[in-house]
Amino acid sequence: MSVISREVHLVSRPEGMPEPENFSLVETEVGDPGSGEVLVQNLYMSVDPAMRPPLTNGQAKLDHVLGGSAIGRVIASKNESLPEGALVQGRYGFREYYVSDGEGLRAVETEGEPLTTHLHVLGSTGLTAWSGMLIVGKLQEEENVFVSAAAGAVGSVACQIAKIKNCRVAASCGSDDKVAFLKDELGVDYAFNYKTVGSIGRELHIGLPDGIDVYFDNVGGKHLDAACGQMRLWGRIPVCGMISAYNNKGARSEGVTTLSNMVYNRVTMQGFLVSDYNDLRDDFLADMRGWMAAGKLKYRETVNEGIENAAASLIGLLQGDNTGKMLVRLAPE
Ligand SMILES: NC(=O)c1ccc[n+]([C@@H]2O[C@H](COP(=O)([O-])OP(=O)(O)OC[C@H]3O[C@@H](n4cnc5c(N)ncnc54)[C@H](OP(=O)(O)O)[C@@H]3O)[C@@H](O)[C@H]2O)c1
Repeated sequence: MSVISREVHLVSRPEGMPEPENFSLVETEVGDPGSGEVLVQNLYMSVDPAMRPPLTNGQAKLDHVLGGSAIGRVIASKNESLPEGALVQGRYGFREYYVSDGEGLRAVETEGEPLTTHLHVLGSTGLTAWSGMLIVGKLQEEENVFVSAAAGAVGSVACQIAKIKNCRVAASCGSDDKVAFLKDELGVDYAFNYKTVGSIGRELHIGLPDGIDVYFDNVGGKHLDAACGQMRLWGRIPVCGMISAYNNKGARSEGVTTLSNMVYNRVTMQGFLVSDYNDLRDDFLADMRGWMAAGKLKYRETVNEGIENAAASLIGLLQGDNTGKMLVRLAPE
């Protein structure tokens, strides 16, 4: 049972914002699974900021299919542990079908929740927010919290965890609709559009007049510069991402000039990767499922249709087209 699969290749390396011409859609034949292998049809793929730096730094190969997290269904199996019909998650994004020997594939176990939630709130983006806030950020009840890229997949969960811990939350994002989403749906205390305000620092003075205990940094650059100068005594900055820098060569961010405040106020800044906390997935899932059942944790998705829109979805993510998690639906469930 061989199938024709379409997949997205990188054909030239972008400088600055990627262009559609940097990618091409290629048809390829995917053969029968051999002994111990499975043939998988992808249903949804995740679109992530971390996909951008490899396009320029050489980690993504030219004329080769791109990767990234995806959930699919086994449609032919010669592997007893992954029978036909099983839902599996692996790093085989940007393609419709693939054959795998099962290495690196994980069975997706849903408990009645939508499948897509395993690519965001119940998946890695949720775990990123949970571990970044609670473990790296050591978030305490009633602290003052600032979250950047707050209306995105990680940011929207980070804001809500801080609200669940009764914190005062200020949030930044790139559109007025996202400001309304943050205030009206997620209940953050103060939200602003960083593209239209004169100064991020001034907004932080208004939103968190007593200063910041935890800055959950998704952006770097000017956001980090503004927040670092307003950190309180023993403040923490979990450094989750630097999206303002990802289109730059070497992912170099704009300069931060306020680091002296780390000395005065004994501020801790720590970068982290979600993979550092994989062993805490059970604790994370128990928290998240409990909060979702109690109506304390909401999510949004921006779902584009079809592999032919996968590259455009990555460009769109970098331009802020998504509210909540950016996904591409590759086949009907
Ligand atoms: N450490 C880890 O293990 C880990 C894991 C997952 C994600 N991350 C990081 O977490 C951050 C958020 O990831 P995500 O998956 O949740 O993506 P996301 O926030 O859902 O999407 C990216 C958002 O970034 C914003 N953005 C784009 N360019 C920007 C700029 N120059 N300045 C400020 N904001 C900009 C856009 O929203 P606006 O409309 O608000 O501009 C866009 O919607 C990223 O930095 C990512 O690298 C880290």
